[in-house]
Amino acid sequence: MEKPDFNIEEVTKIIRGRRSMFVAQFKENDPVDDSVIEEMLENANWAPTHKLTQPWRFIVYTGEGLKKFANYQAEMYKSRAAKNGTPFIEATYQKFKENPLKASHVIAILMKRTENSGIPVMEEIAAVSMAVQNMYLTASAYGLAAYWGTGGPTFWPEAREDFGLEGEDMLMGFFYVAKPASDRWPTGKREPIADKVGWIRE
Ligand SMILES: Cc1cc2nc3c(=O)[nH]c(=O)nc-3n(C[C@H](O)[C@H](O)[C@H](O)COP(=O)(O)O)c2cc1C
Repeated sequence: MEKPDFNIEEVTKIIRGRRSMFVAQFKENDPVDDSVIEEMLENANWAPTHKLTQPWRFIVYTGEGLKKFANYQAEMYKSRAAKNGTPFIEATYQKFKENPLKASHVIAILMKRTENSGIPVMEEIAAVSMAVQNMYLTASAYGLAAYWGTGGPTFWPEAREDFGLEGEDMLMGFFYVAKPASDRWPTGKREPIADKVGWIRE
């Protein structure tokens, strides 16, 4: 294959310009074309992966599927509260029931272990995270509102079986996608990289 003609200015622009936008910033009832989501998923599939185990798995909820997911997490929240004796907060229940409906697509992010791969679990989590970054970059490049959320069933053991998880497999959260309500783009915020790097030169 010939060496690709990458454009560093564009790459830097999209990496630094990628932003999260949350449910409050979503334009409701105006779905993104499935073809855009498919492109995000295809780009996710090109993340680096040790020994090519490709541990990322995705479940895409859209249309009526969003209702199914919303009701699922709301009812699980309710039954967990009843069972674990944790407080039941009506507003939280409502959020679980309503937030997914404000999105165009909600993508469950799963990490699937390969048996006997010998790969530490950290590397598979890292590979899935890189796949999510590819989705993030693609969503931003399309000017979409999107964010990775680790709420809802992400850490609920009761949800594991429903998502087909076994052993060290993980539900790693949900990628919410919508068109943005406004043309404004959020400002990014980071502490300087110099505060986070040590160089050893000799
Ligand atoms: C692993 C991971 C989990 C996250 N979980 C949440 C979450 O549960 N809720 C949320 O509002 N944002 C979540 N975020 C998004 C961050 O809030 C967001 O990346 C951060 O505010 C920086 O903004 P930026 O993405 O626009 O640079 C998560 C991000 C990552 C990488």
